[in-house]
Amino acid sequence: MEVVIVADEAAAGALVADVMAHHVRPGAVLGLATGSSPLPVYRELIARHAAGDLSFAGARAFLLDEYVGLPQGHPESYHSVIRREFIDHVDLDRVDGPDGEAADIPAEAARYEVAIRDAGGIDVQLLGIGTDGHVGFNEPGSSLASRTRVKTLTQQTRDDNARFFDSVDDVPHHVLTQGLGTILDAGHLVLIATGPTKAEAVAAAVEGPVSAFCPASVLQLHPYVTLVVDEPAATGLRLADYYRFAAANKPGWQAY
Ligand code: GLP
Repeated sequence: MEVVIVADEAAAGALVADVMAHHVRPGAVLGLATGSSPLPVYRELIARHAAGDLSFAGARAFLLDEYVGLPQGHPESYHSVIRREFIDHVDLDRVDGPDGEAADIPAEAARYEVAIRDAGGIDVQLLGIGTDGHVGFNEPGSSLASRTRVKTLTQQTRDDNARFFDSVDDVPHHVLTQGLGTILDAGHLVLIATGPTKAEAVAAAVEGPVSAFCPASVLQLHPYVTLVVDEPAATGLRLADYYRFAAANKPGWQAY
């Protein structure tokens, strides 16, 4: 796992955009995330596209997760959010996500797994992290081998996400999410974490034991992970100085 500590959210967004752009080519399969953390990444990618420096033509994308029961047209469905924050501003027109309105949720989960597999798998998966250590919507206790399925949100996650809704009571209890096993199948995992509220989860994910109690710790089992954190999110890392030294002295030939 490569841990890169940068000054602030803007620097984190720029660096993660570099990593994502490194994988963008016709035929690329991108894994996209929602929530606040990836927004600086999307702003940066949109700016590069607007400047004529980056095209997503011929690439396609898959989302990590979706609320169950929230109409696709709801402004906070991840179907809507990813279009508003990213897709509508670039030339990426093939985007799939779990359908949280499906009549048969287990069948939809199975369909999604097959769709990712039939696309040849995800080349690069963008991730955020929840304050309870979740990735996608894999809450504590998620099997480290899990596949796309329904999950029940913790109260902590519903409270965290209440800011997107009129009230916490409007935050759905159930979600469809790629499993931790699904996420581990991606070629390159890129996690962005910013702000002091993420410090505890980042430390547990990077330096704690691999445990279903901190689902993001499963990243320790993946051979190709880039984890970009800003200073406030890095305060719990015991080996912060080592990560800084490694990043500052990275051999020029070493890729992202
Ligand atoms: C959300 C999403 C995750 C996200 C996490 C953190 O609810 N399902 O993909 O990484 O929780 O969200 P944020 O980036 O808004 O802090």
